[in-house]
Amino acid sequence: MRTYLVTGGAGFIGSNYIHYMFRKYDNEIRIINVDALTYAGNLENLKDIENRDNYTFVKANICDKEAIAKIFAENDIDRVVHFAAESHVDRSIRNPEVFVQTNVLGTAVMLNCAKNAWELPDGTFKPGKKFLHVSTDEVYGSLSEDGGYFYETTPYAPHSPYSASKAGSDMLVKAYMDTYHFPANITNCSNNYGPYQFPEKLIPLIINNALHGKKLPVYGDGKNVRDWLYVEDHAKAIDMVQEQGRLFETYNVGGHNEKQNIQIIEIIIETLQEMLADDDPRKALVSKDLITYVADRKGHDRRYAIAPDKIKEEIGWYPETMFKEGIKKTIAWYFEHEDWMERVTSGDYQKYYNEMYKA
Ligand code: NAD
Ligand code: TYD
Repeated sequence: MRTYLVTGGAGFIGSNYIHYMFRKYDNEIRIINVDALTYAGNLENLKDIENRDNYTFVKANICDKEAIAKIFAENDIDRVVHFAAESHVDRSIRNPEVFVQTNVLGTAVMLNCAKNAWELPDGTFKPGKKFLHVSTDEVYGSLSEDGGYFYETTPYAPHSPYSASKAGSDMLVKAYMDTYHFPANITNCSNNYGPYQFPEKLIPLIINNALHGKKLPVYGDGKNVRDWLYVEDHAKAIDMVQEQGRLFETYNVGGHNEKQNIQIIEIIIETLQEMLADDDPRKALVSKDLITYVADRKGHDRRYAIAPDKIKEEIGWYPETMFKEGIKKTIAWYFEHEDWMERVTSGDYQKYYNEMYKA
């Protein structure tokens, strides 16, 4: 039975990945989820699986090398899937230091603990061990409106403290592969959306605000472009890269779904209007009149677009969920989980659910 150490599993993509993995492998795998439960970590995201015998939660900070080394010492870890990070660009602009701490130093701790646990006396590594570092397309910088795609060979040119810190973490993983022949992969993925996304990010923020008749803030001219991928497709890509990819390689993961922010907002409003019943009082609140142009984000990257050719050709992965279908599934999930959104926006998730779990 393979044992996974997943970092950041209480966050958006990590929790979707854990659900995906248990749906796919059921009792064939064991998952240990290590998460510091920052504002972005919510154990409620995992309540459906928390009682499984093959799942364990450990509350720990990835910068705490004793705590991480202890997990490796007490468990024969076969796979590391490293999600834990500070992930929001706006927060990184306000408070960059914690991004360097978690994203750069935390990744260094994860790499070093895995290396110490997996390295043999002759400097090679125990067979079959693999580390996957989950990263972002934002490390490649910004594309012009009509200018090309990000490939694995595109030089790094990060702009925000978030993307700079993720670029730093990627470089550390590359350094471990080059220096020690450490068995790892990197995935650089485009913007994700789907269930359990914290409502500071564009899509859940717009869904939630629109349903409450609150303003929908559009940064700048609203024409910045992101390449949106349904989160389950990302979870699947991570698993496929780890099991079928070539070690030491980077794979770009993207949705082939470029949209301007204003287009995303309009699609959400139209889809909400379609999906809400006529007698639902929220229907009258949802309106394009809520769209409000606000000051632009500092250093706002204009366009991201991934060319996922390598992962498609080598591994056979492709984005399965079309945006129209994915956004409907996402909105349906938020309709069914109004209480989740309420506890997140009120802060109750930290007072109640996360409190139940101490390290
Ligand atoms: P998230 O902010 O929703 O979740 C991050 C998780 O990490 C939370 O559970 C948080 O508690 C945990 N965490 C933060 N600091 C920690 C620390 N010091 N020690 C232990 N745990 C800590 O993030 P997400 O959107 O799920 O992103 C997950 C990963 O995927 C990140 O590495 C991010 O860079 C990458 N990524 C995200 C996107 C996206 O669109 N969201 C796209 C590409 C790549
Ligand atoms: P975000 O979801 O924060 O992801 P990222 O910055 O990592 O791409 O933002 C997506 C895009 O939406 C980005 O161009 C900024 C923009 N945006 C808004 O226009 N209004 C908002 O309220 C937010 C949160 C983002």
